Amino acid sequence: MNRGIEIVGLGKMLPAACVTNQQIAEQTDTSDEWIRSRSGICTRYFCKEGESQTDLAAGAAANALADAGVRAEEVGMCIVATATPEYVTPATAAVVQKRLGLPEDIPAFDLNAACTGFIYGLQLAAAMLHAGTLQHPYVLLIGAERLSGVIDPVERSTYVLFGDGAAAAVIRVSDTGRFLCRLGVRGDAEVLYGPTKEKAEPYLHMNGRAVFRFATETILSGIALLEAESGIAAGDVDYIVCHQANQRIIEHVQKKLKLPHEKFFMNLQKYGNTSAASIPLALADMKEAGLLKKGVRLFLLGFGGGLTKGAAYMEF
Ligand code: COA
Repeated sequence: MNRGIEIVGLGKMLPAACVTNQQIAEQTDTSDEWIRSRSGICTRYFCKEGESQTDLAAGAAANALADAGVRAEEVGMCIVATATPEYVTPATAAVVQKRLGLPEDIPAFDLNAACTGFIYGLQLAAAMLHAGTLQHPYVLLIGAERLSGVIDPVERSTYVLFGDGAAAAVIRVSDTGRFLCRLGVRGDAEVLYGPTKEKAEPYLHMNGRAVFRFATETILSGIALLEAESGIAAGDVDYIVCHQANQRIIEHVQKKLKLPHEKFFMNLQKYGNTSAASIPLALADMKEAGLLKKGVRLFLLGFGGGLTKGAAYMEF
């Protein structure tokens, strides 16, 4: 078990427009029934003109700082986990530094581990906080995506699944809350990739069945790893928070492990798959719902493009 970190504030930001399955079905050859039964998704949010991935990132970060009661000048590092940055350069994190008035003597950078980005960021935050190299005591870790810009309305098997959004966590060293994290990757540019200008393919491509298999294997092996290394059985943690890609993926794992449905937090019904924003969005909604009381124990499981994977144990 690593030395501890704790999340002292959470915040989210969504685009103004909530898009229903019915609205999607008016543009694409699909139906509300197909989307609900194959994914569990009912609505998602899409940015409109004038809304950017950077706006979402900065808004979520400001809300997380307010929730934590932490001032901008107390932030020692800013990481934005994203696969859909507004610019190649500057990094979204650099623009957030300016907009929020974060100090200049801090590292601020983007991290692309696709849907596993938030868990990669947690591990980096823990390492940097415990290395003692940061000038200020808090890490601002943001997951922010504008996936609506990279999904093809004509490609119905991807278009219906994704959404835009951002959520952020304010993190500090903890003397009591334990933390364990394991990361990995199975390099693959065929199962889930894009967009790529090289191939003149501006959209995301996915082999749904192969990703489904990778996701269920990754969550199950991640839980087994966390159980072995933390000494805590999955049945004894308060919640298991998986990347919110698809209700069927999560239910497959739940049934396999014979655990109660309620142990797996889910909010993908509202947001669809928001990639790096999905786990912090789940945490932000759990906090709003009063589920993250002091002492709550969580398993976090991520998987996604890369193909990346990550598993973390956290205590609140
Ligand atoms: N609406 C209606 N029909 C659709 C559709 C849509 N949006 N998308 C695909 N279909 C059709 C297919 O064309 C196919 O038709 P056919 O049988 O006539 O060829 C049929 O539905 C079944 O397609 P299939 O791909 O086998 O469906 P599935 O049961 O595997 O479900 C996914 C597709 C994408 C929902 C599922 O594979 C999945 O959830 N994969 C994981 C995706 C994921 O989580 N990605 C992100 C990871 S970070």
